[in-house]
Amino acid sequence: MSFRIIGTGSSLPSRVVTNDDLSTFLDTSDEWISQRVGISERRICTTESVAQLAHKAAKAALEMGGITPLELDMIICATISADYLAPSLACTVQQSIGANCPAMDINAACSGFIYALDTAAGFFARGFKKIMVLGAERLSKLIDWNDRSTAVIFGDGAGAMVLEAGDAYLSSKLQAKGNSDVLSIPQPIGHSVYYENEMPQPYIFMNGQETYKFAVNAMCADIIDVVKLAGLELDDISWVIPHQANARIIDTSAKRLGIAPERCLKNIDRTGNTSAASIPILCDELFRSGKLNDGDYIAMSSFGAGLTSAACVVRY
Ligand code: UT7
Repeated sequence: MSFRIIGTGSSLPSRVVTNDDLSTFLDTSDEWISQRVGISERRICTTESVAQLAHKAAKAALEMGGITPLELDMIICATISADYLAPSLACTVQQSIGANCPAMDINAACSGFIYALDTAAGFFARGFKKIMVLGAERLSKLIDWNDRSTAVIFGDGAGAMVLEAGDAYLSSKLQAKGNSDVLSIPQPIGHSVYYENEMPQPYIFMNGQETYKFAVNAMCADIIDVVKLAGLELDDISWVIPHQANARIIDTSAKRLGIAPERCLKNIDRTGNTSAASIPILCDELFRSGKLNDGDYIAMSSFGAGLTSAACVVRY
């Protein structure tokens, strides 16, 4: 027994930050960001907490799923930017929506949402009936806003899914190859009087080109593998939901796989890279677009710090 998706929801902060807004204090341009990354604007929290974004996404997913919070058997939240280290963001959401079930966070960076879906699949195999999975991030608090190589890329947002026991989760693949040189975010270290060594700044560090190469290779290999594991061909996949890290990564991977660009979905121009939230936000847009037909196969694929990657195939 695995699951099927019965509800989706998403939420973005209200403040739109355009490339031109960033050019007022960074040595960058709309032309560079649009051409190299494919982003025109992103949403950045001003007063919103990540818990508030997650709450709104969760409520929308419950409403679409037509279930009450008390029917949930578990809440799993993928995040690297929760408001608290403890309690988990999942516990905060559990309290705010009024659920009464176990709740926990998962950290697999940008691959976190698919890791969380796969974790949920394990609980469905144990007999759980309904699980909420979220991806929610406020990466704006982890950015050095003087660093143009990262500040232009990321955005804030949250997405949620309500899953019910079923047979629509057809295959998955999770990977990790431990590496903190390419992409990392050090934790703030505090002020112990005993510390003797210099502490790194608690901001996103990314070797863009190395990450880019890893991303394209992982996405192509992972999608081929999960499609095969599902007993399908690439042509059977109606929609690919890729992690929104760079429009060029998505276009290059689609071309390499021979997937038509219109089947490989993007919203990065409006959202930027929202890490673990990017896949559920895009899924919610697809679920509400009216484009889905019964039986459509959807492939999801993600990659990020770890270095991790993950992919899966679900049937609508
Ligand atoms: O979700 C986590 C996973 N993350 C990713 O998958 C990100 C993968 N990597 C990328 O998307 C791209 O590598 C970036 C968008 C991060 C960078 O694009 P790039 O084409 O690899 O640029 P680059 O790092 O090679 O830099 C090219 C030039 C450099 O200038 P010089 O040395 O050629 O004079 C940079 O200093 O672009 C410069 N540059 C910028 N210029 C204007 C870097 N950032 C900016 C900027 N505006 N924001």
